[in-house]
Amino acid sequence: MKQLNGVITGITTGLPDYILTNEELSTIVDTSDEWIMTRVGIKERRILKGEAQGISVLGTQAVDELLVKTNTRPEEVDVVVFATTTPDHPFPSAASMVAENCGIKNAFCFDMEVACSGFVFGLEVCNSFIKTGKYKKIILLAGDKMSSITDYTDRTTCPLFGDAVGAVMIEPTDEVLGILDVELHSDGIGYEPLQMKAGGSKYPASYETVERREHTVQQDGQVVFRHAVSRMAEVSLSIMDRNNLAPEDVDWLVPHQANIRIIDATIQRTGLPREKVMINIEKYGNTSAGTIPVCLWEWEPKLRKGDNIILTAFGAGFSWGSVYLKWGYDGENQVK
Ligand code: UT7
Repeated sequence: MKQLNGVITGITTGLPDYILTNEELSTIVDTSDEWIMTRVGIKERRILKGEAQGISVLGTQAVDELLVKTNTRPEEVDVVVFATTTPDHPFPSAASMVAENCGIKNAFCFDMEVACSGFVFGLEVCNSFIKTGKYKKIILLAGDKMSSITDYTDRTTCPLFGDAVGAVMIEPTDEVLGILDVELHSDGIGYEPLQMKAGGSKYPASYETVERREHTVQQDGQVVFRHAVSRMAEVSLSIMDRNNLAPEDVDWLVPHQANIRIIDATIQRTGLPREKVMINIEKYGNTSAGTIPVCLWEWEPKLRKGDNIILTAFGAGFSWGSVYLKWGYDGENQVK
């Protein structure tokens, strides 16, 4: 029997229309475009506005378009996985809500929570399903409504985050294409420096937790920064090394977009030229699990079948990892 591998056969996004600029943020907290651009590299981010608008709104947009783009009938989908830390509700899963909205009735659906590393962890999970030979069409969504867990009175965190979802269709292939290798890691040392303290089973929501603003992201930025810089470079080099890929063999590096200085350090340590690196942090900020698929979607017109792509992410947990992808199709010349 031939070895089966999961390959991405289509990619879409769900992006909110509203653009929150550094100029507008400067009217909310004591910050400036100059500080944010120099220290983080973000100019603007998308925000999902309106009452009762959860992440499933963006997920539904992305999947509706993905079904059309990949010429898939909803009943053909076998599995829907949503990598998100900001589901609409603790339960049911956002994946089930998206499936229902998109008419997907024959799939099993679940969410997985790995914060900013959600897309790379999700690719490993979906690829394992594909390798069983049982499942032919899997949708992986990844992204967050970070504005729902951001404290807009805290200038040290509120400029960083935005809202977005990316969605990919993953199908089996027996060609040497798709998700060729994955390396994932976790280290509980990340518990204190990066967390949303309340709202889970340890500190359920109460008047006190709300008053203490514990339902939003809290981080020790410098500790997270240091770990992100070493881990993202380390794991990218490791996956390149074990697949005998020199920098010149890599067509694209897609780093998680949390801070332009983390991205630059990763570029420097991996020895890749900047023009081979997908960077769009300026436009979208850190959308957590959404950053990598949003980059792939934006660069899709330039991608060619067989391109060697290295994905690398770092996030809460700590969790981090890399994926070696061989792109599965020639991108069309669509305007993004
Ligand atoms: O996706 C995974 C999750 N997160 C990350 O990957 C984030 C990793 N960390 C970072 O990206 C950076 O540490 C931050 C962007 C969060 C902060 O940058 P930094 O260079 O580490 O700044 P800092 O926290 O050391 O603050 C430097 C100064 C401080 O002022 P003083 O104490 O030196 O007077 C801050 O109060 O900058 C001040 N500051 C600001 N000033 C203007 C902090 N935030 C702002 C702001 N506007 N928004």
